[in-house]
Amino acid sequence: MADRESRAGARYADQAILEYTEKVHASHDEALDRAFRSTESGDIPAIQLGQGEGRLLEILLRMIGARRAVEVGTLAGYSAIRCARALGEGGRLWTLELLPAHAEVARANIAAAGFADRVDVLVGEARAILPTLERHAPFDAVFIDADKEGYADYGAWAARHLRRGGLMIGDNAFLFGNLLDDTPAARAMRRFHEEAAAAFDSVCVPTPDGMLVGIKR
Ligand code: SAH
Ligand code: DHB
Ligand code: MG
Repeated sequence: MADRESRAGARYADQAILEYTEKVHASHDEALDRAFRSTESGDIPAIQLGQGEGRLLEILLRMIGARRAVEVGTLAGYSAIRCARALGEGGRLWTLELLPAHAEVARANIAAAGFADRVDVLVGEARAILPTLERHAPFDAVFIDADKEGYADYGAWAARHLRRGGLMIGDNAFLFGNLLDDTPAARAMRRFHEEAAAAFDSVCVPTPDGMLVGIKR
């Protein structure tokens, strides 16, 4: 019997196993590859979701039949393309990005993927933009992947504007391994977890940096 440590963590999977399973289940078409690789030039940080995480996001949105979704933190549009694929014809994604340079690359990647008509890339502070989206509420899904200090507030916004049964997903829920520290960011991320558990049926999936998944009660 495996010891507790190996049962509790993602320790059976080595790099080769992860690469094999990503290839089988989560491989990229040309559009996803383009978006994924647009962080290779060095102008944009390579902090997009991993391949399997992006596929998980897509599958979760599909499972609930999501039509209207909000993403906080666009970067180069990789996860936005995963979301857009899940939403299908007639669906709509609003994705929020602070930096104009990221948004510009994302728009090009999203257009190249054929989703310009169903994705709005909105530039600015998420805190300022989210209230402008409320006229489109209730949403089916909210994916949070921007500044980690903001997660608790974004999560509270999601709890107010998701439909019952709507999905909230938060990347980096382990806060790069610093979740239990005594810092403002760690306290905010713990508040995100605790408030999510109060308003959602939730779980923290042990991806490399944790992915919080909740269904609104
Ligand atoms: N979801 C993307 C990765 C997002 S990386 C993917 O997987 O493909 C985080 C992004 O959030 C960065 O582009 C960063 O510029 C943006 N960001 C950081 N703070 C923000 C804020 N306050 N409002 C909106 N976007 C923000
Ligand atoms: C960072 C942000 C992310 O969303 C992520 O998944 C990894 C790293 C960062 O800001 O460094
Ligand atoms: Mg992230």
